[in-house]
Parts: sequence; structure tokens; C-alpha cells
Amino acid sequence: MKGLILSGGKGTRLYPLTFTSAKQLIPVANTPVLVRVIQTIRDADITDIGIVIGDTGEEIKAAVGDGSRWGVSVTYIKQDAPLGLAHAVKISQGFLGDDKFVMFLGDNVIQGGIHGLIRQFDTSGYNSQIVLTRVREPQHYGVAVLRTDGSIERLIEKPKQPPSDLALVGIYMFDKSVFQAVNAITPSWRGELEITDAIQWLVTAGKSVFPYIHKGWWVDTGKPIDMLEANSLVLDELKPVREGASVDEASVVDSRVTLQPGAQIINSIVRGPTIIGENTRVVNSYVGPFSSIHHHCVIENAEIERSIVLENSIIKDVPARIQDSLIGRRATISKATGRPASYRLTLGDYSAVGLV
Ligand code: G1P
Repeated sequence: MKGLILSGGKGTRLYPLTFTSAKQLIPVANTPVLVRVIQTIRDADITDIGIVIGDTGEEIKAAVGDGSRWGVSVTYIKQDAPLGLAHAVKISQGFLGDDKFVMFLGDNVIQGGIHGLIRQFDTSGYNSQIVLTRVREPQHYGVAVLRTDGSIERLIEKPKQPPSDLALVGIYMFDKSVFQAVNAITPSWRGELEITDAIQWLVTAGKSVFPYIHKGWWVDTGKPIDMLEANSLVLDELKPVREGASVDEASVVDSRVTLQPGAQIINSIVRGPTIIGENTRVVNSYVGPFSSIHHHCVIENAEIERSIVLENSIIKDVPARIQDSLIGRRATISKATGRPASYRLTLGDYSAVGLV
């Protein structure tokens, strides 16, 4: 079996972080979402992985390389325009050949335990297997209607009046019959070849499409609020490790805190679940639950909680607690000194700041 990860898209709802960076590379608990997807596929013993890339392809290549760091072999497939998930399958036929494959959206974070399902598909006789989960706002997703015996009656992409609350999670398993489907369908109202339409085509053609209902959590990390949610859920399940980090006697670090190599905690309180990245210094500060501070950051005379801070950022001498925040790479937040007493901001396009 092969793996196919879709990692195109601009990530406009995560501006300004995604002006310069692919959304799939934003870390959740200090590991990029895309790397989590690679690990999930590898955990199902699939090592031959294609990654479909778009405008941000070069950055993704630089971060993932040939995949050997995670024990997989990566082939890049360029999608010249965002023409849909089914279009991505179409252009990947050369890589996929006649093999069965699992397709993952590179910006989805799912609670573990999915690798058994992927392995099962390999030995099943199904043409396709899809993963569904109950959601509160099904109109934003592909939606499935099941019959009373659990089989699929129909699938609709982003219906205005959703006929069920079962959404298609961004994980799909196919055999080669999917190529007939992606070649037969036509673009939707948004000008894309929808994977939902391709799966509906398989159902109508009498192919065996098997639904699996995922009971754990699942986050499609499109917006900042989703990133923070995914971060909290992943941190909550993280098994804390502390290797090569230092904590001085004046600090209190609880048992649910992960400290990565070279992290230093000095005269500070750190409450988990939280992760402090490599060579990050926390000095005279408080870092509260559900925080991910990435590598080479400095948190000094500051308080922060339920936030994600990307690498090489500095938060220093900040009078109020920072909370529910997503802070990009090489950002500086500090107290303004001198007169006039005022906020001094250098913000990128589409930044959002909440002041009290
Ligand atoms: C895509 C699919 C949709 C699915 C969703 C999951 O939507 O088209 O069926 O439910 O991913 O994240 P998109 O992200 O393209 O809006």
C-alpha cells in the first residue's frame, strides 16, 4: 500500500503565519501537522509516500526532504493549481500505479488509533473505505447519509441543508478503481474536482465503499482557533519526556510538562500539559497549561497560557498574561519603555492583536 498526502493550499485563514509558511508546517505540540500525518501513515507500515504540493512546495520540500528522518521515502507531486482533491488523485496516478493507497489531508489532526484501520483495508476486498465523524456544523464538510444497515446511501459536498451530521474526515482509502471515478466526474460549483463526488461515483457504480465512524477527536486546522484546539488535544495525550533539559531549584515544573533537549527553566512555574522546545529559556515566568513553546525562544518576566509560540521568538517583560495566542516565528513581544507611554506595534498584514 502507498500513502498520498495533500499539502497544497494557501492557508488564507491562518494569515499572517501562512504568508511565508505552509499551513501544514505549523507545529502542534512542537511537531508540524504534516509530520504527524507522515508518522500516522508510517505507523500503518506504509513507507512509500507521495506528497502533493502547490505554491508552498519548496518550503515543504525543505522541511520534509526525502522522508528518511521518519523512515519513509517521499516523492513530490506538483499540482499547478488548486483544482480539488480528486484532481490531486488524478495527477498522482503515475506514482500510485495499481497499488491501494491511503489519502490524508496534510492539515488534519486526528486522535490516534487509525493505523489499524488502514492496515485492515490492505487485506480487505473493499474498493474504498472512508472515515466519518459526527460534527456540529456539517455544512462545512462532505456529508454522508447512511442506510439503516450502515452502508452508504449518498454523499454530498458542503450541503446547505445537511441531511446528516456525519462528515467526511480527511482520510480516504482507495484501490485503483478511483481513477475511473476521478476521470468521470466534472468540476463542482467551486471549480474543483471533489473527492466526495468521486466517492459518490464509486457508490453509484456499485463498488464497495465501506464507512468507518471515528469516535475520537478530529481537527481540520484551518483557523487559529482550530490550531489552538488541536494543540490542546495533542498536548493532553502527550507522554511527558525530559531529556537534556535543566530546571533550577527555584522552579516548579509539574509532571505533565515535556522539556526538549537544551530547554532551561529558571525561577519559573510551568504547568502541564505543556511542551518547552529545544534550547528555549523560560526565566522568571509562568507558562500555563496547553502551551507549546517551540525551539530557541525566550520567555522572560512574562506569563503565557494556552498558546502556541513558534521558533526563535522572544516574549519579555510583558505586564499582562498572554493567552489563547498564536505567535509566529522570530516575533518579539516586550514592554515599551520611554515616553510617550504607548503600545508600539510592528505587525504584518492580517495580524490580529487583542489589547486590554
Ligand atoms: C475537504 C473535502 C470535504 C472534507 C474536508 C475534511 O474540504 O472536500 O469533503 O469533509 O476536506 O477536512 P475542503 O478542506 O477542501 O474545504
